Amino acid sequence: MDKLAIVSKIEIEVKCLFEGEGTGHDWYHIDRVRHNALKIGELENADLFLVELGALLHDIADHKFHGNDLSVGPARSKELILKNGGDENLANRVSKIVSEISYKGAGVETTISSLEAAVVQDADRLDAIGAIGIARAFAYGGSKNREIYNPTKNPHLHDTFLAYAEDDGATINHFYEKLLLLKDRMQTATGKKMSIKRHSFMEKFLETFYDEWNLGESR
Ligand code: ADP
Ligand code: NI
Repeated sequence: MDKLAIVSKIEIEVKCLFEGEGTGHDWYHIDRVRHNALKIGELENADLFLVELGALLHDIADHKFHGNDLSVGPARSKELILKNGGDENLANRVSKIVSEISYKGAGVETTISSLEAAVVQDADRLDAIGAIGIARAFAYGGSKNREIYNPTKNPHLHDTFLAYAEDDGATINHFYEKLLLLKDRMQTATGKKMSIKRHSFMEKFLETFYDEWNLGESR
């Protein structure tokens, strides 16, 4: 198998599918996840070929193939790998990575069974936090017509960053439902380390956000 050729063909296909997507799942998300996954994978001694393909294909089911069919992403990954010169074994291994990290509905935590899947999941989670994570959250919220914040619907305790979440609440809720929890859910030591700065930035962001909202800066 010509590894380089497989990666570059799959990259071209994925790029075509994701270019210009407006809800935080654009090609650049895939590309950032790929780069961070390779960085983490290198330090964690993972198989970088599997990591790169897993990262490129990790959101493949999210694009144009929505719905609750969990088999779409893995099946599509397998198909793409076979079509682009990969063998059955490679196709199965990558599709397993995709199946383990692609679905995150209803708070379900899927089991991660390989180092490579852990690496890709960490890279995907890193892209959901920090400055980029903040931008993606508001882009996603806007795409669902959600308010950025609503103090009457979403009371919070400024000091402790506690808030209660509502299903269809403002985007700020998503920080408490998910984004602030990701740091402690990282799977690899390298991923954990990389999440710290991004996590503090989100805390700082929220602090400043509430401060400005309450006109704290003029006090
Ligand atoms: P990915 O598949 O890239 O891990 P998701 O499909 O879960 O991410 O979400 C894509 C982006 O949209 C992420 O940055 C995520 O934080 C954000 N997002 C998902 N659900 C919400 C929500 N309810 N409110 C705001 N942002 C959200
Ligand atoms: Ni993703």
